[in-house]
Amino acid sequence: MSQKEIFSLELNKIKKLIDKNEISVCIIGIGRIGLPTALSFAKSGLRTVGVDINEELINKIKNKDFPLKDEPGYQEIFEQVINNEKFTATTKMEDIIPNSQIIILSLPTPMDENNIPDYTSLRSVVKQLKNLVRSGSIIIVESTIEPGFIENEFINLIENEEREIKAGKNIGIGVCPETANPGEIMKDFEKLPRLVGATDKKTSQIITEIYKHVFPVELIKMPNCKTANAVKLTTNIFRDINIAFVNELAILFEKLGIDIKIVLEAADKKYNFQIHFPGAGVGGPCLPVNSYQMLNSAKEISEDLLKMVKLGREINESMPYHVIDLLKDALNEGNKQLESSKILILGISYKPNVKDIQLSPAEVIISELKKFGAEIRIFDPYFKATSVYGIETAKDLDEVISEVDAAIIVTAHNEFQNIKPEYFTSKMKTPIIVDTRGIIDIHAAKKAGLVFRGLGRGKI
Ligand SMILES: NC(=O)c1ccc[n+]([C@@H]2O[C@H](COP(=O)([O-])OP(=O)(O)OC[C@H]3O[C@@H](n4cnc5c(N)ncnc54)[C@H](O)[C@@H]3O)[C@@H](O)[C@H]2O)c1
Repeated sequence: MSQKEIFSLELNKIKKLIDKNEISVCIIGIGRIGLPTALSFAKSGLRTVGVDINEELINKIKNKDFPLKDEPGYQEIFEQVINNEKFTATTKMEDIIPNSQIIILSLPTPMDENNIPDYTSLRSVVKQLKNLVRSGSIIIVESTIEPGFIENEFINLIENEEREIKAGKNIGIGVCPETANPGEIMKDFEKLPRLVGATDKKTSQIITEIYKHVFPVELIKMPNCKTANAVKLTTNIFRDINIAFVNELAILFEKLGIDIKIVLEAADKKYNFQIHFPGAGVGGPCLPVNSYQMLNSAKEISEDLLKMVKLGREINESMPYHVIDLLKDALNEGNKQLESSKILILGISYKPNVKDIQLSPAEVIISELKKFGAEIRIFDPYFKATSVYGIETAKDLDEVISEVDAAIIVTAHNEFQNIKPEYFTSKMKTPIIVDTRGIIDIHAAKKAGLVFRGLGRGKI
């Protein structure tokens, strides 16, 4: 393995090293995004090491137990690159960094309880890199960060006068913000364009060459890191705001007796409409956090900026409370009281078909229902017979459905897509259903005798 200082090499020499797979890669943070990234690098032939502080995760990987079972396509690659030793994993950053030419950071960038971006992991790793990184390395931040974080903070944290480590002189710093969708990461890695931003032209070229070697996608050159991060946030905030818009329409249409499903399907026929769907709330590690990241950047300039983003967050965060209102209304029709009812939550993941409850609206719904004194049951195909939010989740839908007074469909998992209203009427004493994901046909619900409330669907 060559240990050349790639930053100072001519680009064509770097290309040759990449083609011969003679570049060493390290990915720090091998979670939902970092692990598939590391596996993709290893599959391309580059020797790749994954570093993570989570010992349990590293032990799992060492025992050849693939940790991301809900991520299609990666199990086979995992086995292949572990067996041919292109991929290894460790907790020991100090052993790996001095021997790594490309260092990719895929660390979590959540927000704190006040919705302020929390860069603790990133800051802690960068402080370690300051004393470990070798001259000539390229450091690429894939984590989602605010525009300006690299320019205003990251560079200062990593440069080391004593060790004569300086960005743009003997190390390269860049970003390649990750935009993949959990549950579809492999598909996204093969089709979504990637943004490349860097502090200097040479680093941008090197990152482009190395990503070209791994991913068969368009690489979009950005003028700098902050623009690349602004693009990443813009795409997600666009979704957050549009979802807030359809959520508001949903609430209005319930009162007007208009079915939002029909409206959206017809509107989508128009060439410049982009469909978004209402729901119980917007969760996950990206959309809500990204809106707050941009709001945090804007706040430094003026509290008055990005009013629409603020309002969008407010609307989306109010949706779990609206869902509870729908439930109360339905229970009322079924002559039941929330205080003495058993409520089944169908789906707790923040999005369909993944095992992930980060910032899921289900959490708010459940905690509010508990405050009213309701008893909660959970069925989620990704969380069977386990403990979530202090509740033992059900193993079997058929069993739990017959115990409850009402059910709320919170997540549109594939397993719920074909549920027919008759299923509920045949299993429940008083079939009371709140559908927040437009799964149940309202006319079929009426015909089957359901007490039904659908988000944005109007009463039947
Ligand atoms: N999950 C998504 O949908 C998604 C999509 C696009 C972008 N992103 C962004 O990608 C980044 C990573 O997100 P993720 O979902 O993979 O997070 P994750 O929590 O699944 O993985 C992060 C990993 O980093 C490890 N880690 C934390 N602190 C560490 C430290 N000090 N040293 C070494 N390892 C450490 C954790 O143990 C974990 O395994 C975030 O910035 C996120 O916003 C996420």
